[in-house]
Amino acid sequence: MATFGSFRVRARLLGRGQVSLYRVFAIASRSAPLLHLDAIDLAIEERSILREISIATDARRVAVLGRNGSGKTTLARVVAGLQRPNSGIVQIAGVDVARDRRGALGAVGILFQNPDHQIIFPTVEEELAFGLAQMGLPKTEVVERVRTVLARFGKSEWQYAAIHQLSQGQRQLVCLMAILAMAPEVIVLDEPFAGLDIPTAMHLARVLDAVEGTLVHITHDPRMILDYEHAVWIEGGAVQMQGPAARVAQAFEAAMRELGARDDLTDLSG
Ligand SMILES: Nc1ncnc2c1ncn2[C@@H]1O[C@H](COP(=O)(O)OP(=O)(O)OP(=O)(O)O)[C@@H](O)[C@H]1O
Ligand SMILES: [Mg+2]
Repeated sequence: MATFGSFRVRARLLGRGQVSLYRVFAIASRSAPLLHLDAIDLAIEERSILREISIATDARRVAVLGRNGSGKTTLARVVAGLQRPNSGIVQIAGVDVARDRRGALGAVGILFQNPDHQIIFPTVEEELAFGLAQMGLPKTEVVERVRTVLARFGKSEWQYAAIHQLSQGQRQLVCLMAILAMAPEVIVLDEPFAGLDIPTAMHLARVLDAVEGTLVHITHDPRMILDYEHAVWIEGGAVQMQGPAARVAQAFEAAMRELGARDDLTDLSG
């Protein structure tokens, strides 16, 4: 896997078509699936939050559906290696993300629902450079990648901007650019469309469509993910159903409508 890792870095520097070929090669030569969770259990303060979660897929577009409090954000944190499960295996692109933090940077990036939970630096340039420097890239390449990602979004004028002067939607775009600059193989998006106006949401949808890598899109809205390859429905911290997204989305929506039609709201907290 070590030589394979350096191959991965070089492949990212190539054009899009070549990266696609690389992707086919990468999937074919990896023994475990790109997204590999096996029997994940997680309890916080003795309360069971995730139970026996297993996901094994090489799909490029993966959805995680679930209602409020079902465990989606906690699962996102586990996939990104930010939260270590009590038991089970989490391997993303062959990396044990909870233990190998340097390896995790190239394997998986996460876009939090609230950009203010993500941003640490006062300027856009510093924020974009941070993850790249953490990856151990030389300073010249860090600067180059920051400029490239800003130009790709037509936001070169943001380079020295103060982040607190940007709107929430704009700050979220900064967070997404920071992840894209690092080019991880998997990007986890936690409710990325919440709070965005229609043009910003449409722009983000186009940006996400163009992402070469794998997306794990967390949402409570089944209409967002109908054309995805794979979906996982989480209920009460456990997998209720998983499979082709259209089928899972339909079952999820029917169940949510049935729940929402009830007058008794005691079961709505998840
Ligand atoms: N740090 C924590 N300490 C205690 N309980 C937690 C913690 N984080 C999450 N939980 C609990 O775990 C459950 C799942 O929370 P989580 O945030 O993962 O749900 P979610 O599906 O993302 O919900 P939402 O749709 O509202 O964002 C909730 O009952 C929540 O109270
Ligand atoms: Mg959440």
